[in-house]
Amino acid sequence: MRTPPLPWVIAGALLVGVPALFAARPAPGPAPAAAPPAGSPRPDQARPPAPSASAAEGPGWQVPDPDALPDDAYGRAVRRGRDLIARTSSTIGPDAADPAMRFAGNGLDCQSCHLQAGTQQFGLPLAGVWGVFPTYIGREDEVRTLEERVNGCMERSMNGRALPVEGPEMKAILTYVRHISAPERVGQSLHGRGSPPLPLPDRAADPERGRQIYADACATCHGADGQGQRLEAPEAAETGRRYRFPPLWGPDSYNDGAGMARTITAARFVHANMPLGTTFEAPAIGAEDAFDAMAFVNTQPRPRKEGLERDYPDRSKKPADAAYPPFVGPFAPEQHRYGPWKPIQDWLRANPDAARVTN
Ligand code: HEC
Ligand code: HEC
Repeated sequence: MRTPPLPWVIAGALLVGVPALFAARPAPGPAPAAAPPAGSPRPDQARPPAPSASAAEGPGWQVPDPDALPDDAYGRAVRRGRDLIARTSSTIGPDAADPAMRFAGNGLDCQSCHLQAGTQQFGLPLAGVWGVFPTYIGREDEVRTLEERVNGCMERSMNGRALPVEGPEMKAILTYVRHISAPERVGQSLHGRGSPPLPLPDRAADPERGRQIYADACATCHGADGQGQRLEAPEAAETGRRYRFPPLWGPDSYNDGAGMARTITAARFVHANMPLGTTFEAPAIGAEDAFDAMAFVNTQPRPRKEGLERDYPDRSKKPADAAYPPFVGPFAPEQHRYGPWKPIQDWLRANPDAARVTN
């Protein structure tokens, strides 16, 4: 399939994608006008209502619409959860009115990465992950619950602190994830989880080439200095968000322990979803361009997380592109950062015992 030239993709995304971004914003307040009156028959939780006709739909990808739920405790919790995902900065982030509620430490929203409030296929969806947790996570080398995974992103992607597991915010996030995950099969990943795999380049990613790709394909929105585009105060108040386009580096971005700081994870996301409006079915930039662009982005300054040396206590589980020590195998730190990663992956597979150093 031929993809349209990049400037048209960006122009198209600016015209279509960005207004859609804000149109998708949940209405402020607890009771959106679309909700049926309280007391109307409520759907059985095990059988969610008919899926919404949202842009997130694709073949085999249908996400129940929270606005179709009545204005009862369950419906309100689902919509509150969506609000926390879509407007994190103003609800549990640095712009929350109550300083005690400022759990997230940067200006991002969960939705900055989990696109369309976590409903977009291959846009790191939260739809479909309810039934996958608890699951083994190599970073901690143990089985982790969904609450712990959410807090993993709070401490890294959001550069903040963990939400109390028993608190109403965590409950609302879980209720939302549970709702948009139905129908799904427990223990199985939906097709569309994460972002699609991408062939790894045979060469090292080239951050200098990436700088040019960034200037051509990303800077229009994310800014030449990577600091994104902040909303003016009235628009920020109206949307509950800090940014029109989120920062990719600097103090208001994800920290060096985040998944997005790993260049393979980041390139997969970017290839399938950026420039905004792109979908996995029609990527706008080449695979190598995505690796180079994110190699450039991920070598720019960003917040640091303490204690990263304690990640992956079983070192054989450490992804080849985790760019922080300790490293396993006979590879230079630069090779973990830029690749080529395949020789590292091959070495890890061939030497499981040598790799299984524990802290
Ligand atoms: C800077 C981008 C970014 C932000 C912001 C972010 N996340 Fe994530 N999140 C990721 C990435 C990348 C992954 C996949 C991680 C990996 O492969 O290690 C992920 C994974 C997850 C998962 C597991 C998904 C799965 O398929 O297993 C959950 C749940 C999650 N995030 C919740 C959240 C919540 C809730 C927030 C907001 C409080 C949030 N994230 C903010 C990037 C982000
Ligand atoms: C048309 C504007 C636009 C262009 C061009 C664009 N992006 Fe984005 N990007 C966005 C928006 C908007 C979001 C957040 C989505 C949301 O908040 O709903 C985003 C999110 C991201 C994120 C995750 C959030 C974060 O702050 O880390 C990354 C990484 C990213 N973009 C990288 C890129 C790269 C690399 C390019 C160039 C190849 C690019 N983008 C081009 C608009 C754009």
